[in-house]
Amino acid sequence: MEAKRIYEGKVLTTKQNQQSAIVSLMYNVWGRLVAAILWPFHILGIKLVYSKIRSEVGISKAGISGGGSLPVHIDKFFEAIGVKLQNGYGLTETSPVVAARKPDCNILGTVGLPLNYTEIKIVDIETDKPVLDGLKGIIKVRGPQVMKGYYKNESATGEVIDKDGWFNTGDLGWIAPKHSRGKSHQCGGMLVLEGRAKDTIVLSTGENVEPSELEEAAMRSKLIQQIVVVGQDQRRLGALIVANKDEVLKVVKNLSEENSNLTKIEMINLLYSDLRSCTSRCSYQIGPILIVDEPFTVNSLTSFLNFYSLINNH
Ligand SMILES: *[C@@H]1O[C@H](CO)[C@@H](O)[C@H](O)[C@H]1NC(C)=O
Ligand SMILES: *[C@@H]1O[C@H](CO)[C@@H](O)[C@H](O)[C@H]1NC(C)=O
Ligand SMILES: *[C@@H]1O[C@H](CO)[C@@H](O)[C@H](O)[C@H]1NC(C)=O
Ligand SMILES: *[C@@H]1O[C@H](CO)[C@@H](O)[C@H](O)[C@H]1NC(C)=O
Repeated sequence: MEAKRIYEGKVLTTKQNQQSAIVSLMYNVWGRLVAAILWPFHILGIKLVYSKIRSEVGISKAGISGGGSLPVHIDKFFEAIGVKLQNGYGLTETSPVVAARKPDCNILGTVGLPLNYTEIKIVDIETDKPVLDGLKGIIKVRGPQVMKGYYKNESATGEVIDKDGWFNTGDLGWIAPKHSRGKSHQCGGMLVLEGRAKDTIVLSTGENVEPSELEEAAMRSKLIQQIVVVGQDQRRLGALIVANKDEVLKVVKNLSEENSNLTKIEMINLLYSDLRSCTSRCSYQIGPILIVDEPFTVNSLTSFLNFYSLINNH
């Protein structure tokens, strides 16, 4: 599927410059060649495995995802088993959809193009000026589905809708640059989400980190049930983790028959090495971790966050 994406021009990129004609041609040929070589294996995969998964999950052709972020590994999984997953984006304030992927142009990793009569622009967080395609900023929306305002609350409304009718979603994202050729030529104009602006962690070194990238990657670990990446105003990132006890036990049993009790340190090491391998491709790495016994509640999270800044400062 990855090779197919290359020759179909569906590889997402932030680059504004498109590939030269000759490079585009080479990618096209390369993509087709690799896809052709792997095709028999893919067919075998469909026959032996994917068709069974599809009947088990009860989805044979297509599905719609919305209401939460769609991690890339899940997106790729459905692509691989031949289920066309369409992702959409919107908020309650935009009643609710503003952009969606369509079956005939379904670009992985995006939430597709704006709906009809809907405008989307990306503005710089500080200057509020529109940025070039491919650059990240705050997503603003204008269209008939955007609410008139919060009920009887002009000040709250004024904070999110400007005088020209642009609604500030508070979400971060970018728009894929338009290319007329090459491995990204079908992606132009597609909206890509990067997380909530409020969630951005600013480290004491001044670096901005989107925790969602790390959290999504970490959730691929079977051993991790819940994770929150923290580190606002700290030197490095940390994480609070609720372990998936059953899975941890399985791994421990597997390691040694007789001793199924783990010390806290062993538990941390086990989770840490799994976390590391899941997040190795992320732009930032997680430093210290804290294992939490019970699933998060608002109260427990607040007290753990305080604890975290305490240990990280000393
Ligand atoms: C939306 O726009 C597309 C392209 O301009 C057009 O083909 C389609 O009919 C429009 N759909 C609606 C519901 O207006
Ligand atoms: C208006 O919204 C703000 C922010 O959400 C809130 O603090 C305030 O209480 C609201 N005012 C009224 C009259 O509802
Ligand atoms: C148990 O150990 C074997 C061999 O090291 C490994 O292949 C298998 O994946 C492990 N199972 C679990 C549940 O970790
Ligand atoms: C593991 O811990 C449980 C309860 O804490 C205890 O009953 C059991 O004997 C321990 N097992 C070993 C092998 O240490």
